[in-house]
Amino acid sequence: MSDTLSLNNLPIGFFDSGVGGLSVLKEAIKLLPNEDFIYFGDSKNAPYGTKAVDEVKELTFNAVDFLLSKNVKSIVIACNTATSAAIEDLRTFYKNIPIIGIEPALKPAVELDKDGKIIIMATPMTLIESKFNNLMKSYADTRDIIPLPCAGLVELIERGVVEGNIVNSYLKDKLKPYLSESISSIVLGCTHYPFIKNELEKILSTDTTIIDGSAGTSKQLKRQLENMNALNSSTNKGSIEIINSLNDKSIIELSYKLLNL
Ligand code: DGL
Repeated sequence: MSDTLSLNNLPIGFFDSGVGGLSVLKEAIKLLPNEDFIYFGDSKNAPYGTKAVDEVKELTFNAVDFLLSKNVKSIVIACNTATSAAIEDLRTFYKNIPIIGIEPALKPAVELDKDGKIIIMATPMTLIESKFNNLMKSYADTRDIIPLPCAGLVELIERGVVEGNIVNSYLKDKLKPYLSESISSIVLGCTHYPFIKNELEKILSTDTTIIDGSAGTSKQLKRQLENMNALNSSTNKGSIEIINSLNDKSIIELSYKLLNL
C-alpha cells in the first residue's frame, strides 16, 4: 500500500446497490472537485432493500473488497440500506480505512422546526433495521414521524424511469393517506430517491421541504480526509470512473446521465 505522501493522490471509493449513490457522488464532486472518484454500482444485485440483511451484508463486504483492490483512500457507502445492514461490521473489520455511511437525514428535518408530519421515504430494510429505529426513537416524543417504505421505487430508477406518469402515480399512491394533512418535510432516506425529486415536488405543497443526506455525507467525507491529512492537493479537476456489476453499456450511460442531470 501507499506511504503517507501518496495517500493524498489516491482515489475515493463510492458504493451503492446501483445508480442511487450517484446522487451523493454529485455532491461530493461539488465539495471536493480535485479528488479522483471510483464509483461502484451493484445493479446486478439491486434492489438491496427487499433482501435479507445477511445477503446485503455479504454483497456490501464484496463491494468494499473490490474498491480496496482499486487502492482507494476512503470509502463512502452511498446506500442507506447497505449502511444499516453492514456499517458496524465493516468498521470493525476494516480498521485502517475510513468508511463513511449514510442514514436518513432525520435530524435536519426535526431542526426545521416546522409543524406537520415528517415522512421518511426509504427501503423496507432501512426502516426495519435498528439503526433507523434508534434514530427515530430519539425524536419520536417531539415529532410526528411516519416511516414510509417504498418497495419498487428503486427498480424504476434503475431502469432510468425518473419522471412521467409511472413515477407520478407511484408517488401519489404512496403519499395518498397523508396529502390532505400538513407535511412539514419529506426525508429521502434512499440515495436513489433524489432522482425523482421533480415528480415529488409536483405532488407536494410548496410548504413541504424535501431533504436528503447527500450534502451531510459529503461534508463528513471531507472532514475525515482533512483529519487524515489526505486531501488531494492538486488544483486540477479530478477524474471520475464508474464501474457497474451489470456487464451492460446502458447502465454506464444511465449513470453518467444521472450524474449530470
Ligand atoms: N440506494 C439504496 C439506499 O440508499 C437503495 C437500496 C436498494 O437497492 O434497495 O437505500
